[in-house]
Amino acid sequence: MASKMTRILFVCLGNICRSPTAEAVFRARAEQTGILSRLQLDSCGTGDWHVGKAPDSRAQRAAATRGYDLSALRARQLDPSDFDRFDYILAMDAANLRDIIALQAASSESASPESNASSVHIGRFLDYASNQCHADVPDPYYGGDKGFDDVLDLIEAASDGLLAQLVDAADAHGGPPNKPEAFQ
Ligand code: 4NP
Repeated sequence: MASKMTRILFVCLGNICRSPTAEAVFRARAEQTGILSRLQLDSCGTGDWHVGKAPDSRAQRAAATRGYDLSALRARQLDPSDFDRFDYILAMDAANLRDIIALQAASSESASPESNASSVHIGRFLDYASNQCHADVPDPYYGGDKGFDDVLDLIEAASDGLLAQLVDAADAHGGPPNKPEAFQ
């Protein structure tokens, strides 16, 4: 029988700065941890202004200085079907979280009985970051280069925290995280 994947969607406003950074950082760190093959990762925005666009060049540059490649990613907008398709939907800030929950509420009335919407975990990505006091990943779009560097610091911390939690959960179900059955 096929083992279960853990599906994680990172969400910001435009899907050109923070959430594509989160997707790429989490992918790289999951690969280092040996659990990438057990994960399905994606990112999107609550807004539609940048759909189809590559990540912001400043986000790409900042990420590249730490070894993360964002160049192949393209923006898309959050869709009601995402509530069925993901186990974790993780917002970069409080406004994103409000918009995600509002879309879920608006789409739940028309959801099918088989919908996964009741089991999806919707929360803030930075809830997984230990030893830091930020609740939100600040929007860097209208700021300078330092904002993009700060985004990377926060996203790396949250990625490591969530990965540690996933690995712990896998261990609790028997076996090291790089074993296929670990995430069942
Ligand atoms: P993101 O940043 O939500 O991290 O992708 C933004 C990108 C674009 C805009 C705002 C925030 N915008 O207003 O176009």
